[in-house]
Amino acid sequence: MFTRIDHVGIAVEDIDAAIALYDEQYDLELVHREIVEEQGVEAVLLDVGENHIELIAPLGPETTVAKFIAKNGPGMHHVAYQVEDIEAEIARLVASGIRMIDREPRTGIRGSRVAFLHPKSTAGVLTELTEPAKDH
Ligand code: CO
Repeated sequence: MFTRIDHVGIAVEDIDAAIALYDEQYDLELVHREIVEEQGVEAVLLDVGENHIELIAPLGPETTVAKFIAKNGPGMHHVAYQVEDIEAEIARLVASGIRMIDREPRTGIRGSRVAFLHPKSTAGVLTELTEPAKDH
């Protein structure tokens, strides 16, 4: 079961320029900033009520986010749904015919465990499952 929308992911070229918009101009609270090597990004979380905006900037030109920006330009990248048991959700989705990018969870921002669904199975929306670390 998807229990809530955890975050919307926004692909940006310049993370400091994006922080200036979201933190200073929108006045959202920046709560976390991290290099997530496994996803090839520098990522920032800002609180919006109990949900988040996740800004992601590519670490290099060969990363998937750099390729996304080269193809589509910066902007909306993915929607992340919170789940309580990510292995069970992956198994449930695969059984229902969904194509997964990740059949095994990988490390996401702030100690979360994440898995992406393939956009070919999701009407074009890159979709993430996220199981937050227990202390978040
Ligand atoms: Co995300």
